[in-house]
Amino acid sequence: MHLRISSSIMFDILLLSSLSVTELQFPPGISSSDSEKEQNGTTTPRPEAGNSSLVFAVNGEKFEVATIDPSTTLLQFLRNHTRFKSVKLSCGEGGCGACVVMLSKYNPVLDQVEDFSVSSCLTLLCSVNGCSITTSDGLGNSKDGFHPIHQRFAGFHASQCGYCTPGMCMSFFAALTQAEKANRPEPPPGFSKLTVVEAEKAIAGNLCRCTGYRPIADACKSFAADVDLEDLGLNSFWRKGEPKEVKLRRLPLYSPDGRFSRFPEFLRLRLKSAKILHLESKSWYSPTTLEELKSFLDSNMIEDDMRTRLVVGNTGMGYYKELDNYDRYIDLKYVPELSTIRKNHQGIEIGAAMTISKVISCLKEEGNVNYSSDRKQVLEKLAGHMEKIASGFIRNSASIGGNLVMAQRKSFPSDIATILLAVGSVVSITTGHKLESLTLEEFLARPPMDSRSVLLSVHIPSLKPKGSGNSNESSSKLIFETYRAAPRPLGNALPYLNAAFLADVLPQVNGLIVNDIQLAFGVYGTKHATRARKVEEYLSGKILTASVLYEAVKLVKVAVIPEAGTSHAAYRTSLAVSFLFQFLFPFVNVGSAIFGGVSNGFTGNSLEDSSENHKNNSLRQWASPKLLSSAKQEVKSSKEYYPVGEPMTKSGAALQASGEAVYVDDIPSPPNCLYGAFIYSTKPLAKVKGVELESNNLQSGVAALISYKDIPEGGENVGSMTTLGFEPLFADELTRCAGEPIAFVVAETQKSADLAAKSALVEYDTENLDPPILTVEEAVERSSFFEVPSFLYPTQVGDFSKGMAEADHQILSAEVKLGSQYYFYMETQTALAVPDEDNCILVYSSTQSAEHMHHTIGKCLGIPDHNVRVVTRRVGGAFGGKLMRSMPVSIINMQIKFFLNVFIAYALSLSYFAAIQSGLVYVR
Ligand SMILES: Cc1cc2nc3c(=O)[nH]c(=O)nc-3n(C[C@H](O)[C@H](O)[C@H](O)COP(=O)(O)OP(=O)(O)OC[C@H]3O[C@@H](n4cnc5c(N)ncnc54)[C@H](O)[C@@H]3O)c2cc1C
Ligand code: FES
Ligand code: FES
Repeated sequence: MHLRISSSIMFDILLLSSLSVTELQFPPGISSSDSEKEQNGTTTPRPEAGNSSLVFAVNGEKFEVATIDPSTTLLQFLRNHTRFKSVKLSCGEGGCGACVVMLSKYNPVLDQVEDFSVSSCLTLLCSVNGCSITTSDGLGNSKDGFHPIHQRFAGFHASQCGYCTPGMCMSFFAALTQAEKANRPEPPPGFSKLTVVEAEKAIAGNLCRCTGYRPIADACKSFAADVDLEDLGLNSFWRKGEPKEVKLRRLPLYSPDGRFSRFPEFLRLRLKSAKILHLESKSWYSPTTLEELKSFLDSNMIEDDMRTRLVVGNTGMGYYKELDNYDRYIDLKYVPELSTIRKNHQGIEIGAAMTISKVISCLKEEGNVNYSSDRKQVLEKLAGHMEKIASGFIRNSASIGGNLVMAQRKSFPSDIATILLAVGSVVSITTGHKLESLTLEEFLARPPMDSRSVLLSVHIPSLKPKGSGNSNESSSKLIFETYRAAPRPLGNALPYLNAAFLADVLPQVNGLIVNDIQLAFGVYGTKHATRARKVEEYLSGKILTASVLYEAVKLVKVAVIPEAGTSHAAYRTSLAVSFLFQFLFPFVNVGSAIFGGVSNGFTGNSLEDSSENHKNNSLRQWASPKLLSSAKQEVKSSKEYYPVGEPMTKSGAALQASGEAVYVDDIPSPPNCLYGAFIYSTKPLAKVKGVELESNNLQSGVAALISYKDIPEGGENVGSMTTLGFEPLFADELTRCAGEPIAFVVAETQKSADLAAKSALVEYDTENLDPPILTVEEAVERSSFFEVPSFLYPTQVGDFSKGMAEADHQILSAEVKLGSQYYFYMETQTALAVPDEDNCILVYSSTQSAEHMHHTIGKCLGIPDHNVRVVTRRVGGAFGGKLMRSMPVSIINMQIKFFLNVFIAYALSLSYFAAIQSGLVYVR
């Protein structure tokens, strides 16, 4: 089955003159059917597909996959086997949102479809069996009409390079879909049921490196039922001060069509009758009972050295990038014991495969039930803390169990382990036929779980004050708080330190007695979260006074000591101190008369009711902000340089939002395309004696290993042209810095290339070499300087001596140190090299400097510059990082083309030989 590619992609394809790649072909085993596409709500269901193939829908089209490597991600499938290229690959770790899609899944228990955003770079394809996927190019396009989300992103100037925009649109669309399905009052015409706060939060976790978030947030808020249009920033729809009706008329119309979920009927029909995917041949198992799961894990299945991976959301791969192949995957989502939440008077039992998002909703719901304020505040605070974990599109697939297992097995810096430790949670695990129940503390302290053990559930006990029911101590109360300090306070960043404190306190006339206290600290450079037992013991039974708090703080300094080698060790300890101080200080010397007011403020209730104003001030920080941001913008424009300064929609912005805009990596890989990965130096200064690939890699699709020795005759070892001269493409006999490319592996797939590069063995020799220069100071000391071209010499501006003499304040000496910086361009460095006739070459590159690239390629390959054609249509973010650093990527591609012509002639590989004959060897 062939898929035609969309018109804008066609344009680029036509540029590949020697190619006739106008169709995208599925590999054997994959088919797509337009005939099954839902049209006007009617469907043509097909005969039951059986359970030996994956069936899912992308933008309404049915896909059926009979054979696939189970480690294939949804993103890889969408980008390599469908025409839907709006799904972008950037970080590949769940950290940026460029790859976000909406997943719609039928919940047979509730008989309803659930829609939520997920990161397709971490979602495994096999796990979307029976699901429907919506991408930004599925919402609308230039031919059929853009979706109002695309149009408003364009009109609010919310898309600069556009690489992040389709992902933003999908995060927002998923939130919109959920809100429309909610049981809420009908919004005014033209608006959605979303609130301004929800609209803003919908895109939290989607990173943009160019635009700035205000226009993006404004585009989203323009859909909210409670928005004040006057608050929205500069846009190309209306001018400030125009009446609301005019503004509304000019906004691209949004009207929910009632078909909120994009879940085709054929999937619903199939799911209602079909069982779960059971792809034994492809080593993807979806057990539906605990017994079945146990039998899969049975010894005879793993004895034969097969590598088995239990999987739920697969988001753990975002942190622990594993390139190695597993022999079998076991999906835990369909085992009822792992996928249910049970609540009773003893507490909440959460199945280990429950997603963090679902657990948050459950805790919030429980918090709303008419429980005691003690229980309510604990549940609300747990939920509030969990909302700061990762981003919505990660929490929607990441499981509680996965998080705890990572914390237990690999010392993952978990928030969940810390906060659940403080409330005395208990876990259930099964190993073979043995079922165990143990405290979370015991679980974390155990040696890493083996691969046959399964975490079944975690139980959060119903917390009651110790004094309840006892007339003497009836006023005993619980206070609970959680903390985390992270580079981004509202989420999407792992913490430097987290903590959760639960105290049972008894207000007395002369102060507060600490009946009992549980202090959990995590992520401070220990293997796992721990309780500060000595501090707990010290505080228990004491009346909270300043001196008691002072002693407790001193004990924390000794208890929270990061292990040797932990970064920011002193900072982490000081954070622990400040968290405990923040927790207890409001209650120091607080007697029963004012306790109620203070604890009200503490739990985020009306601060105004509290009796002590100074206490209130210190408590205000707990009240969570309603809006993430708020600002006022006043723009004055003048006609002096008209049309400069006019808010005009950027041409192509809607194309970017819908994903029609073509970036280099969107150009489909032609047949026989090869992929590559660099082998980098791990030593800053060393002789490279040899590079070898592991023998198994040589058999698994590796086509070549090239190094500086393979620079073509007449060419030079140059990889980029900088203001300080040319830089080498490869380290020759000597590496000059860690991270310098030593060699390049070329393989049939990106995965084979990455695996081979990762496991390559490089032999170094540092004998008789001076120590490397690692700092500027050392360079100065050893007189090691770059030769600076004269045009970069500093020039005198003004009269320095006079200025200094007249200055009110003089800086006599100062030192400024700038560390290294990671560019984090959203679109990675990409190039596609296409051989052309007569020793010419065409390269598509995401470069900011086509002219320098052009010259450097010619020099490296020893061919005239005019034999090289460089095409750059658009660049997905660059920030200067694609001026020089894009060159090696492109040059290496050219070089491979030249090199492989020789190499293949010797190797006589049939496929390559055929490729050479037709001149079709492509290297990405
Ligand atoms: C971008 C990003 C940011 C994050 N930020 C935070 C953060 O700020 N704080 C925080 O605490 N966490 C954070 N996380 C971690 C996240 O919570 C975990 O990745 C997630 O909960 C793991 O769940 P999963 O279902 O995806 O696990 P998977 O990836 O499917 O599995 C993870 C591991 O656990 C094993 N496993 C899973 N379930 C079980 C089970 N029931 N029994 C036995 N083994 C099992 C798997 O075999 C695998 O080894 C972040 C993750 C990402 C990707
Ligand atoms: S590419 Fe998936 S989140 Fe960044
Ligand atoms: S527009 Fe968002 S990354 Fe460039």
